[in-house]
Amino acid sequence: MDMDRRRFLASSLAVAGGAMVPTAAFAQLPAEDQNIPGAIPPAQIRSARFPEGFLWGMATASYQVEGAWNEDGKGESIWDRFSHTVGKVKGGATGDVACDHYHLYPQDIAILKRLNQKSYRFSISWSRIQPTGTGAPNQKGLDHYSKLVDTLLTAGIRPFCTLYHWDLPQALQDLGGWPNRDLAGFFADYAGILAKYLGDRITVWAPFNMPWSFCYLGYGVGVFPPGLANYGLFLKAAHTVNLAQGQAFRSAKAASSKATVGSAYGMAPAYPASGSPEDRAAAARYHAMNNTYFLETAMHGKYPQAFVGEIPYEAMGFKSGDDKIMRAPLDWIGFHYYTRRIVADASRKIGPAGQASFGTETENDESTSRDQRTNFQATTPSEGPLTDAGLEIWPHGIYDLVMQITREYNHPIIEITEEGCSYLDAPYEKENGRVPDTRRIHFFQQHLAELARAITDGANVRAYHAWTLLDNFEWADGYSQRYGLTYVDFRDQKRTIRDSGLWYGRVAAANRLDV
Ligand code: FCB
Repeated sequence: MDMDRRRFLASSLAVAGGAMVPTAAFAQLPAEDQNIPGAIPPAQIRSARFPEGFLWGMATASYQVEGAWNEDGKGESIWDRFSHTVGKVKGGATGDVACDHYHLYPQDIAILKRLNQKSYRFSISWSRIQPTGTGAPNQKGLDHYSKLVDTLLTAGIRPFCTLYHWDLPQALQDLGGWPNRDLAGFFADYAGILAKYLGDRITVWAPFNMPWSFCYLGYGVGVFPPGLANYGLFLKAAHTVNLAQGQAFRSAKAASSKATVGSAYGMAPAYPASGSPEDRAAAARYHAMNNTYFLETAMHGKYPQAFVGEIPYEAMGFKSGDDKIMRAPLDWIGFHYYTRRIVADASRKIGPAGQASFGTETENDESTSRDQRTNFQATTPSEGPLTDAGLEIWPHGIYDLVMQITREYNHPIIEITEEGCSYLDAPYEKENGRVPDTRRIHFFQQHLAELARAITDGANVRAYHAWTLLDNFEWADGYSQRYGLTYVDFRDQKRTIRDSGLWYGRVAAANRLDV
């Protein structure tokens, strides 16, 4: 997603603190919303209901919020190295301090509690636990997360732990990173350590956040660390991650009898560009490569049909017996939804240099169209309105995606692990410093109404995590995007709950959207 964010940012006209309709209440839903492509009718929003005990939550990720990048024995991660390299991150931003959540987590958990949250999805920084990625655990790192978990439990909030949200210990990158299959075993050891020390209190574990993204963006096209652009490395990295997922599943369960293991995949419903069989087949390949490449392997021990020809086992480094290692029947399936894709067969497309434009994920960017094996072209459309990150708002997408996964995986327990939008709205002096971010409220109203419809139609969704608790370090975009339900002033770390956060807190208490 980073590529399109960056691409669209240049054309974004949004201004922080711009004058907005000051009141955030449901009644302010603008009538003209109904004429916006993809908008959900107010009556559907008004009548949406969520089941008793539904887990309302918010999500964050270690590198994006923690700061304290070299404290208490933490080792260097690939994101430390990347953000410290000139020219990699917008504005020269780093996560050195970020939201200082490492120190301020008690006050941040107090915000969650005040907003009636029942689940907090956070990630653990591997290099706090094992500074070089292997060997004995660093007690101070374990103690930190132990205190965080205790604080959550005291507040009545379920800790949902993501083991890996992209911040690989740099020492493991120095061994070749994810294309080196030794990392699968190292990751399983790390998972075992966490489950041993924290598994008496954490019962909900997701090994990887958006595995396709960090493999492809990091090794396939190089816009994320380690900044490599080689399709073969992407295939190898993704295979190691699939092995690591299976091994971590077993080592977490071996160390903690209470462990349930699921996922936090990035997914986007893929709509064929036309009714032609070629475009339909291309959309199916997108789904296999971008949505289920790490899910099908877990559930069935085999790769989905993401490729036009044979599955490139040799290029992946696949060995006999790997199917059994990858297989890990997940206890529940977690995924994010941000925006949809329109997918076409790439055979007939001509790129800017007169070459065919192929792509595992072109994200509107011809320069990254390098994959002849999947042979599709995926674009993020702009029929619906765009957020400040340039992502199209398409609320039907979450309904379609949830129903598709429900059908394909035989009615699994589903957790929405992320959904959110970037808007730059800041505290408004004339409103006593409130942050009237009406557009974000509309975004969540519409998506949640569609999620409620999926639940009514039989999907077994038990949790929803809004991205995100706090404005934070948005990867290669630095601090130029704000996804928070809480505004953060990075000069003094002051938090101001946005109107959307206050609204979401009322939703969590009422299990309905007209609050
Ligand atoms: C997702 C990432 C998350 C955040 C949001 C905006 O792709 O998982 O860390 O960057 O996008």
